[in-house]
Amino acid sequence: MPREATAVTTLDVQGIEIPKLGLGTWQMSGEDCVEAVTDAIELGYRHIDTARAYGNETQVGQGLHDSGRNRDEIFLTTKLWYTELSAVGVHDQVEQSLRDLRTEYIDLLLIHWPNGRVPLAETLAAMVEARDAGRVRHLGVSNFPSALLREALTHAPLICAQVEYHPYLGQPQVFEVALEHELMVTAYSPLAQGAVTRDPALGEIAEAHDRAPAQIALRWLLDQPQVAALPKASTREHRAANIDVFDFELTDEERVRIAGLERGLRTIDPPWAPEWD
Ligand SMILES: NC(=O)c1ccc[n+]([C@@H]2O[C@H](COP(=O)([O-])OP(=O)(O)OC[C@H]3O[C@@H](n4cnc5c(N)ncnc54)[C@H](OP(=O)(O)O)[C@@H]3O)[C@@H](O)[C@H]2O)c1
Repeated sequence: MPREATAVTTLDVQGIEIPKLGLGTWQMSGEDCVEAVTDAIELGYRHIDTARAYGNETQVGQGLHDSGRNRDEIFLTTKLWYTELSAVGVHDQVEQSLRDLRTEYIDLLLIHWPNGRVPLAETLAAMVEARDAGRVRHLGVSNFPSALLREALTHAPLICAQVEYHPYLGQPQVFEVALEHELMVTAYSPLAQGAVTRDPALGEIAEAHDRAPAQIALRWLLDQPQVAALPKASTREHRAANIDVFDFELTDEERVRIAGLERGLRTIDPPWAPEWD
């Protein structure tokens, strides 16, 4: 029986309700991507994360269309690639995303990576313009260390900081800014690209709850009030497991134990990455 959307809890950020669990689509392509999106929506996912750079917006758009759901039932995020962050670049990318996603609006538009060669004020002003024109509902940034996040907030109203976040990588400085400004922190690579599934401590906790380690890591993330998480799963089995995390409770001791796994492990660190916190 397909799950109903109510199975996924939501968070409230600045009065906006957002499903806490989303499907990540990086490295998904072709028909597999179309099917992953429709299948996820059938399973109860109501939040999908893509990006211009993933090259799969057409497939994500097709999957949304095939799901038969109304557009306003799904929270859809895409991201501007960092090499085209001029005012014209932002405008063109937004129009291309809207066309490929086959939608009238994007729920959340993010700068995918900072680019020191383009003034942040210019990029964010163009994003605000897209929002004012009704092409985009909300704005945010991804991969911004805390000082740059603070700077971005002086130029535009943001609701989201998307960063790598999982039991092996805390983000204390980003959370400090997020708390001050009431931002959603969206955890990307929430399973540390699969590494958490082999963790002995998570394995023990999983056994105690008759769950899998990935479910424990996701539940730990989703228990945090301002956090959304975007696990990517190319198999139906994993997609179903990752949404089946709302009907058990971790104990306080387990939460502390999971937080103690932190070891500064960053799985995403390309040559164009900023200087991290
Ligand atoms: N803003 C950014 O710069 C940025 C960077 C990276 C990622 N992201 C976003 O975050 C999303 C997720 O990150 P990610 O793709 O790097 O990694 P991830 O979600 O941490 O891990 C994905 C890996 O975990 C496996 N997996 C998923 N569910 C599982 C389960 N229940 N049990 C066992 N294994 C499971 C997947 O296998 P299968 O695929 O075989 O199911 C895949 O190998 C991306 O798709 C993207 O949307 C954003």
